[in-house]
Amino acid sequence: MRLHGTQVVNRQGHLEIGGCDTVELAKQFGTPLYIVDEAHIREICKEYHSCFVKGLDNTEVIYASKAFSTLAMCRIIEEEGLGLDVVSGGELYTALQADFSPEHIYFHGNNKSPEELSMAIKSGVGRIVIDNFREMSVLNDLAKELNQQVRVLLRITPGIEAHTHEYIQTGQIDSKFGFTLSNGTADRAFDLALASSNLEVKGLHAHIGSQIFELASFKNEVQIMIKYMADIYGRTNCLLEELNIGGGFGIYYTSGDEPAKISEYAKAVGDALEDGCKSHNFPRPKIIIEPGRSIVGTAGITLYTIGSIKEIPGVRKYVAVDGGMADNPRPSLYQARYEAILANRPQEAVSESVSVAGKCCESGDMLIWDIDLPKVTAGDLLALSATGAYNYSMSSNYNRLPRPAVILVKDGQADIIVRQETYSDLLRNDVLPDRLKR
Ligand code: LLP
Repeated sequence: MRLHGTQVVNRQGHLEIGGCDTVELAKQFGTPLYIVDEAHIREICKEYHSCFVKGLDNTEVIYASKAFSTLAMCRIIEEEGLGLDVVSGGELYTALQADFSPEHIYFHGNNKSPEELSMAIKSGVGRIVIDNFREMSVLNDLAKELNQQVRVLLRITPGIEAHTHEYIQTGQIDSKFGFTLSNGTADRAFDLALASSNLEVKGLHAHIGSQIFELASFKNEVQIMIKYMADIYGRTNCLLEELNIGGGFGIYYTSGDEPAKISEYAKAVGDALEDGCKSHNFPRPKIIIEPGRSIVGTAGITLYTIGSIKEIPGVRKYVAVDGGMADNPRPSLYQARYEAILANRPQEAVSESVSVAGKCCESGDMLIWDIDLPKVTAGDLLALSATGAYNYSMSSNYNRLPRPAVILVKDGQADIIVRQETYSDLLRNDVLPDRLKR
């Protein structure tokens, strides 16, 4: 397993993260346990800040909080000088409760409810990214009622098929998101937004997908969008000043994943921008990027305890852990692959190939197919790597499993940032009608 951030093997021969011994963390907090490396997140934020905000002119980096949204995470992001992308009333509420400055919040989503839109207007979010015609008219009406001018971006579907799992591709024409560029829908949307009394169109937004490695896809996106902004200018004389190119920058999960450096990503965007602006004779807009996974993904590990082991001679050895698809649905949803090591003896030579099963009542609940590990026994601790993004945020109570705690580690200190759910939490919203009581 590749070690990320502050992960090391310590003198006790255990996996350590944020200066904390994972074996001790398991004793103190139990397993499964999400562990998040604060220093690593801050380091990545700083790199984004230096490559984009400082390295390129007039650029903003906003963290896509769908990857991992908690009060503590919002605070870290704001302290590091990044803005925030939210996609629901719940994410917006989390940000506001964390005292995140609303003017640095961008509100996304393909079906925002009137309540969510009104919450966004009232809280004064920086930009609302309009996805479709219905939303445009609901938003304009609400803004009128509230006597507000709302600054918006329009989400455009640029028609780019990035190489990633089809469930996380978003830029292609056949997508539920945004106004299609190629068939004139985007033009109609723009004209309508311009004519809307209470909307102020600041620019455009596009997002081509997630876990993307080819810088060429981002370059292509920037060029298409700049051309479109120039077309709009030519057609309407309206000069848009902002271009949000979304997130999607890939990270390392397993061998074969080869993300470019953030500096290379910034250079690709900067070059494409320069080329695009030059060839279309268009003034450089402000650029916004919204990475999620690449900020928090490699900062997280999930710690499990190994329990049942089933060997089918000549077929496979299943090693079951005390979590699974409820805390990490990515393998079953996207065939996502992960690396893992035994946290209590990470340096021991591997000696067998096993498959790591979750504990949900479902054959598809497998975390890793075929991984080489030392001979494992019940009670060993398994650390799954790069689980910081889209694990806690996509977790469920399937099989009525309480969600694990999330621990933030830094310099030997471990703080709970999300408490472990209890059985009574599971029943918090259950209501038993009188006629069913005994
Ligand atoms: N901006 C927009 C408009 C997005 O839709 C997304 C992700 C992002 C930014 C951040 O993308 P990132 O930098 O994290 O790739 N649950 C899936 C990923 C879904 C991504 C959805 N949108 C997974 O676990 O792989």
